[in-house]
Amino acid sequence: MKLTRKDFPADFLWGAATSSYQIEGHAQGGAGLTEWDTFAATPGNVRNGDDGARACDHYNRWPEDLDLMRDANFDVYRFSTSWARVMPEGRGPVNAEGLDFYDRLVDGMLERGLKPAATLYHWELPVPLADMGGWRNREIANWFADFTEVMMGRIGDRVWSAAPINEPWCVGWLSHFLGVHAPGLRDIRATAHAMHHVMLGHGRSLEVMRGLGMKNLGAVCNFEYATPADASPEAQKAATLYDGYYNRFFLSGLFNRSYPADVMEGLGPHMPKGYEKDFDIIGKPVDWLGLNYYTRKIIAPDNGPWPGHHEVEGPLPKTSMDWEIFPDGLYSFLKRTHDGYTRGLPLYVTENGMANPDRLVNGAVNDQGRIDYLNAHIAKVKQAVDEGIPVKGYFTWSLMDNYEWSRGYDQRFGLVHVDFDSLQRTPKASYHAMKAALAR
Ligand code: FCB
Repeated sequence: MKLTRKDFPADFLWGAATSSYQIEGHAQGGAGLTEWDTFAATPGNVRNGDDGARACDHYNRWPEDLDLMRDANFDVYRFSTSWARVMPEGRGPVNAEGLDFYDRLVDGMLERGLKPAATLYHWELPVPLADMGGWRNREIANWFADFTEVMMGRIGDRVWSAAPINEPWCVGWLSHFLGVHAPGLRDIRATAHAMHHVMLGHGRSLEVMRGLGMKNLGAVCNFEYATPADASPEAQKAATLYDGYYNRFFLSGLFNRSYPADVMEGLGPHMPKGYEKDFDIIGKPVDWLGLNYYTRKIIAPDNGPWPGHHEVEGPLPKTSMDWEIFPDGLYSFLKRTHDGYTRGLPLYVTENGMANPDRLVNGAVNDQGRIDYLNAHIAKVKQAVDEGIPVKGYFTWSLMDNYEWSRGYDQRFGLVHVDFDSLQRTPKASYHAMKAALAR
């Protein structure tokens, strides 16, 4: 790596991230079905019809995986807890085996000197709640608060940090407007409701965790840089609107207690009645903000229904997800977020990384492309730190290859290669490079 631990402030933290459904193996340990199981069972939704039933079998192999985290000299492990594993019906009965699992996992991190950074919800919605409308139903905020109480009642005394929800944009827009993630809806009313209820759920969960006396609580949002397709005012407007419903909607909800006017031009008529009254809960102070960043999009206007634009192919080198590699976007979001919204609050890059067509050859994976990607993005983090923006840590997505949602097992994001037949883990060149860079 071009930069190492020594190039950053002494208290800057380094980590890697995973999520429960993507690695654990959800058919085990008494977990309930999640909406991803039924989404994946629907033809055409997920490449190969792959689901998370076995995934990386982290449910059994977690000691080996935590050893990999420790051995790479990471400070923090960002993981998620599955609602469906802990409360298979979504409400009511608790699956003791599920709670025990997270209890062991957290202790396993502490034993290895790793700080546990928990995310309560990384999309493991129990199907009984999906049957009741999932994120479209306002009650979900209370159901989620109850799950928070059960989960954090058990591990909240030992986690280093916690965030309620991973990437509200994916829960709201990607899953209810674009239909790319579970539940695969394409409906503006469903979207408006889900976008708001996910924020309300965040706020209610945060209240519960404060009530439990927990510290270091944050929010994790994903950001995509929007570039206009040409110099026309129409293209500029289209890119601004994309930025609005992707990035500003959540920042503004969390930190300004309102939603952006340009986004409300489209979503406004479809919002839940009286939603404005919820900002006292949504806007409760957080201790930090996590930014997940991968790419940018080129946006061109069209005459279709609102939002009236589409993505066009960009000229930059791409990852195997077909995502353009645009490190400047990361710097730009750190600066914009700090200047315009969080103003001094600690920021973390909670996800950043790339999918690469990695091949295991003679027991090794030479993923130089990933090393280059990480170098380029970490340099942008350093630029932000040097300018006094309070970025306090950086997490790579992901520790290991895993279930990449609608792309199934076809996209490899890990520092560690996983053979999805034998489940053998093999650290890639990027893992060894990070390990060397993070030596203390
Ligand atoms: C993020 C998700 C994560 C993973 C990466 C590639 O949006 O949080 O689960 O899928 O993208």
